[in-house]
Amino acid sequence: MAQSNIIPHSHQITKVDRNTLKGHPSKVIWFTGLSGSGKSTLASKLEEELYKLGWHTYLLDGDNVRMGLNKGLGFSLKDRTENIRRIGEVSKLFVDAGVLVIAAFVSPLKEDRDNVRSLFPNGEFVEVFVDCPLEVCEQRDVKGLYEKARKGEIKDFTGISSPFEKPENPELTIYTAEEKLSEAVTKLTRYLKITHD
Ligand code: ADX
Repeated sequence: MAQSNIIPHSHQITKVDRNTLKGHPSKVIWFTGLSGSGKSTLASKLEEELYKLGWHTYLLDGDNVRMGLNKGLGFSLKDRTENIRRIGEVSKLFVDAGVLVIAAFVSPLKEDRDNVRSLFPNGEFVEVFVDCPLEVCEQRDVKGLYEKARKGEIKDFTGISSPFEKPENPELTIYTAEEKLSEAVTKLTRYLKITHD
């Protein structure tokens, strides 16, 4: 295989150097949850708060990554696995570059999320379960997708005709049907500052 002839070069400047340069840790805050659970809203607000603290962040989310890097991938479980695998690898590059990644993906399969986790040393992958009852997501139906899914116009829709496996041991859980956005963001920034070493 051609891959056996690929020998990675060890560069002089490392992630630790880049973290020192920037003055904050680089890791992945990975939001997982149903469509409409509030992942993008949380991710975006968190990014604003971290920006105020002078942290260099980058937000990856389902709707934008699927327009570019992952254009052509659909919503079968096989395509979702490939979607999450690529995002995991991209996140790893960003973290190595010293950037704090905020990722917001449905990422419905535990194994896919665990595979991403396994790319990082302990503490660098922070799984945040954006927990919101299906009924509430469906009632919000911000994008009108649940209605279409119920009518059978969208197949393999998470929570309706495709599974969502809840995280068993996420680092944090946010109950978006109960918690205020500002409180949730405080919880997240506090967690990040506590783990800031
Ligand atoms: S994932 O399952 O592969 O992680 P991803 O987060 O990239 O999904 O994309 C989910 C977004 O695509 C949803 O927020 C929703 O707007 C849209 N979408 C379109 N079709 C589906 C579907 N069948 N299931 C879930 N989300 C869908």
